[in-house]
Order: sequence, then structure tokens, then C-alpha cells
Amino acid sequence: VHDRTVRTLFVIGIGAGNPEHLTLQGVAAIQRVDVFFVIDKGNAPELRELRDGLIGRHATAKPHRIVEIPEVERDRTPEDYESEVADWHRARAVRIGGAIRDELDEDGVGAFLVLGDPSLYDSTLRLLARVREARLVDFDVEVVPGITSVQALAASHGVPLHGVGEPVLITTGRRLAGRADPPVPNTVVMLDGLEAFTGVDDPDAEILWGAYLGMADEILVAGPLDEVAEEIVERRAAARAERGWILDTYLVRRTVADDEAWREG
Ligand SMILES: C[S@@+](CC[C@H](N)C(=O)[O-])C[C@H]1O[C@@H](n2cnc3c(N)ncnc32)[C@H](O)[C@@H]1O
Repeated sequence: VHDRTVRTLFVIGIGAGNPEHLTLQGVAAIQRVDVFFVIDKGNAPELRELRDGLIGRHATAKPHRIVEIPEVERDRTPEDYESEVADWHRARAVRIGGAIRDELDEDGVGAFLVLGDPSLYDSTLRLLARVREARLVDFDVEVVPGITSVQALAASHGVPLHGVGEPVLITTGRRLAGRADPPVPNTVVMLDGLEAFTGVDDPDAEILWGAYLGMADEILVAGPLDEVAEEIVERRAAARAERGWILDTYLVRRTVADDEAWREG
């Protein structure tokens, strides 16, 4: 049945930082968009430039608008943390639903552009599910996959993420923090403001670290963890001081082949 008129919302993975990460499917989606929705989280200017540059370069097929949705203020010291978080999620869903309803025609095409891929440490898809539950507006969601920072890290170092048949874990700095041993031989760590790699105490561990992957000032450091950890801490601090923000991702892997149990077969 094709007589149902409904808004379409693309959630487009734009890649980790290099404008050329955008896929041809992403370009085709961008060309169909009437309204680009941007949730203003006070993002770094370089990330705004990346997003605006992609829109400027590819959204050339028809007129489009960019609609900024201001982030809902959050009480950082609530009396009841859980109910405050629930209220905040509801308020966001209502605000975003209202923007979609008011700014996008009933047969219009909207889009959210997401750094990397929407499946990895990104809340856009969960958020849109909540927006739909709020029942302010009806829409279909179409996801366009993108290159994750994990893939960008592996490509820049020119390595596979794991040995033959081994597993790989993708986790956060918060979860690695306080562990002397990574949980599996190949662990990719994202969202690490804690420099959790400094707590890993394994003479056979190697680290492959990357900051601003895919961007003009990409920084890479690789080597035995106990030899390069300090250098990474220093370069991280210097880069952060210079720019005011940092995005970094790394792989910690055990180099000795005592991991037969992890191999297949
Ligand atoms: C909110 S998550 C978003 C991840 C994204 N959806 C992806 O697919 O890569 C942010 C984290 O992704 C990683 N990240 C994203 N872009 C990066 C880049 N260009 N260079 C290094 N790390 C990046 C960092 O670990 C950062 O803390």
C-alpha cells in the first residue's frame, strides 16, 4: 500500500572524521533530505564543520533547511537521580517530536547525521524510539551505516583487530578502569576520559592508540603498553589543551601466543 503519507527520518552514519568516509548510500540519502535536524550539544567546532561541510557538498539536489534543536537542560544534582533521568528523556523526546512535527511536512524527509555509525555508542536510535512512543508525530526511520572510529583506528594502524579466529571486545574506558587485565586478548576502548589503559598491568600488552582519526591532525601511537603509556598520556593532554576537546580510541592486545584457547578449531 503506497497511499500512506508518512515522514521519513534518515539516521546517517557519516564516518569518524574524514569527509570521504561518507558512503555512496549516505550521499544518496543526503540528497533526498528536506530538513537536517541537529541536536545542539555544544559540539566541537571541527565536528560542526565536518557536518556542515558534508551537507554543503552533497545536499545539492534540492532546497533544504537545518533545524537546531536545543538540548534540554538537565539537573546535575537531582534529589532522585532515576526519576530526574526519566523526566529528562521524556522532555527530550517531546521537544524532538515537536520539532519533527512542526518543521517537517507530512511527506517530508528529515535526517540526523551521526558521527561514525549509529549502532555504536550513539543514542539517536534509542531517542527516536522514545520520540515515537511519545506519539506526537508518526515517522519511518531508515538507517544508513557509516565507518566507525573502530574501523578508522584499525585502518590507520594498518592492522586487523584480532588474530585468526579470536574475539574482540568493544567497551568503554569506564568499564576497563580499575582492571589490570583486559577481559579478552583484543579490547577496543572508546569514551575513555579516565585513561584506563594506564591501569593495565600486563608486560605482554600492546596498545594501538589514535586521536582525531580521519581528521587533518590525526595522531597515532603504537607500541608495548608499558613503554608508550606515558607518551600517550602526554600527547593526549597536549592535544586536548591545544584544541579544547579530544576524541580518541585504542586497541589493547596481548601479543604473546598464549591464547590458544581463544582460537577457533
Ligand atoms: C559517542 S561515541 C560515538 C562513536 C561513533 N558512533 C562511532 O561509530 O565511532 C564517541 C567516542 O567515539 C570515539 N571516536 C569517535 N570519533 C573518533 C575519531 N575521529 N577519532 C578517535 N576516536 C573517535 C571516541 O572513543 C569517542 O569517545
